[in-house]
Amino acid sequence: MSNAYELMSDADLDAAIAAIESDAEHLKALGLKLDMARGKPSPEQTALSRPMLDLIDSTTTLTDGGLPVDNYGVPDGLPSARALAAQILGVDPANVVVNGSSSLNLMHDLVCHAYTHGIGGNKPWCQQGRVKFLCPSPGYDRHFKVSAHYGLENVPVPMLDDGPDMDTVVRLVESDPAVKGIWCVPKYANPTGITYSDDVVRRFANLRPAAPDFRIFWDNAYAVHGFTEKDTPLLNIFDALAEVGGDDLVYEFGSTAKVTFPSSGMAYVTASAADMAEIRGAFSVMRVSPEKFSQLAHVLFLKNLDGVKAHMRAHAAIVGPRFALVEQKLTEGLGELGCATWTHPTGGYFVSFDGPEGSAKAIVKLAADLGVKMTPAGATWPSGKDPHDTNIRIAPTYPSLDELSRALDVFVVAVKLVSARLAKVARA
Ligand SMILES: Cc1ncc(COP(=O)(O)O)c(C=O)c1O
Repeated sequence: MSNAYELMSDADLDAAIAAIESDAEHLKALGLKLDMARGKPSPEQTALSRPMLDLIDSTTTLTDGGLPVDNYGVPDGLPSARALAAQILGVDPANVVVNGSSSLNLMHDLVCHAYTHGIGGNKPWCQQGRVKFLCPSPGYDRHFKVSAHYGLENVPVPMLDDGPDMDTVVRLVESDPAVKGIWCVPKYANPTGITYSDDVVRRFANLRPAAPDFRIFWDNAYAVHGFTEKDTPLLNIFDALAEVGGDDLVYEFGSTAKVTFPSSGMAYVTASAADMAEIRGAFSVMRVSPEKFSQLAHVLFLKNLDGVKAHMRAHAAIVGPRFALVEQKLTEGLGELGCATWTHPTGGYFVSFDGPEGSAKAIVKLAADLGVKMTPAGATWPSGKDPHDTNIRIAPTYPSLDELSRALDVFVVAVKLVSARLAKVARA
């Protein structure tokens, strides 16, 4: 469908471009230096967890379930930390390992393990020739970088409103033994904010992979990150697997990076009992034992799932208005022009924006010239290559509301100018 600029007469389009150029000049003169690129909590949000820092001091009992916090050992993580992570993920604590502060680190280590040593007694991926990883796109660039880092072939799969295009996923996974994995963010996905439907989760659980060493990398990073009254439920993939008698298919990850402190949270992984035995073995070579003071502090602070939910409501009160502002500014600025679409998340950290074909790089560049840094265009696709150059990830959490408001004004002008210029070029 044509957008408003494409439908204008030549004279009207020239006048529209001149008017937007004048708006852009005006904005440039303000000398703004704003940032909508960073998917990280604002200082107000991290301040919510500062009381956690007071919960451990020299008088704290440094044992947990009779196990030492202040010494080597306890390789699976503190029992109370595993119980907390298990509640967040809705799984059996016996199958949970809490280790380190970064879930991405755990994902990396398991890709590395599969590459060098293989999964479930199969040949290491490095000895299997061509190895492919499915990348629902737009998706999380750091996922794609992990698989690319090991020379695996990242294969984009379309992302739909209810999850990855499962017809494509099923076809590729069940027909091609070179397909060894898929990156998934099943709840409040990065960057679209969508949550996989029950049907999509069940189709994942029902996969019959051609490769015995295929695993779903189920990154439930935003499991508790809703910011509206009503949480969007995600069907538990391990329950769906149990329904069909499936077993070694899923590695699920999570962390408290965006619950407490990014880079100082606690990270966890869960999988089937057999997969966890293998993961424990791999980790035992990579680590002596996990850092446990942070685990203890987290348990003392968050206590249990109810504690996590209460804490996340405080985050929601800060984050919700920022997302509402994105919706308002984009609707007011672009709603009637028909040159862009964007997602309307109720959780997570991002809004996924699509402009006209061939516009994203130019919009991000123009916004930067006008003083607003965005996530690089293309970052949401494997190798940074968005085939239609339309997608831009908006990260509204870090700036203050006032900064965000000004940044969005700039972004809207950049979208309008690039769209209008594209319409002009198309008729030249
Ligand atoms: C989907 C997703 N997974 C993982 C991470 C990083 O998590 P961690 O800090 O636990 O490594 C992020 C951070 O933005 C993310 O968006």
